[in-house]
Amino acid sequence: MPSRVRKVPPTVKVRRSKVHGRGVYAGESIRKGTRIIEYTGKRVPERDVTDDENDPHTFYFGLDNGIVIDPEIGGNEARWINHSCDPNCESIDEDGRIFIYALRKIEPGEELSYDYALQIDEPITRKSKKQHECFCGSPDCRGTMLGL
Ligand SMILES: C[S@@+](CC[C@H](N)C(=O)[O-])C[C@H]1O[C@@H](n2cnc3c(N)ncnc32)[C@H](O)[C@@H]1O
Ligand SMILES: [Zn+2]
Repeated sequence: MPSRVRKVPPTVKVRRSKVHGRGVYAGESIRKGTRIIEYTGKRVPERDVTDDENDPHTFYFGLDNGIVIDPEIGGNEARWINHSCDPNCESIDEDGRIFIYALRKIEPGEELSYDYALQIDEPITRKSKKQHECFCGSPDCRGTMLGL
């Protein structure tokens, strides 16, 4: 898809979401292919991060090279973007930096989402799917935020 990097990125707003906690919403109409926001934060080796196994909530964004982005330090609004099984955005790794792009035209006030496609170390079971249960509400919801 052709990407569109605007000099001034589109405005986004953080507010409560019906999907989960807080979410991020388009503050204006956003054209397909537009780079919306970078997922910023401190780079930390995955082995050094401590996530509660019983709590699936996480702000860490895992990269393919064993590094995670921790938005607690240097993070921005992107940390609040929720997952959807029928997303309007996608996350793209550009040399280790993660950018969120519009997959289609997004109307003002629409919640932004991308497919987390979460990876876990153990085999995917009914239990692990349930632990990462998805509440995106889309007709095509696969029921889990895990990448199947
Ligand atoms: C990066 S945070 C997104 C912001 C989150 N809504 C909040 O208020 O903290 C990611 C976490 O949000 C929750 N989440 C995001 N999308 C979800 C979805 N579609 N269904 C269920 N939980 C979701 C999960 O707990 C996930 O680990
Ligand atoms: Zn879903």
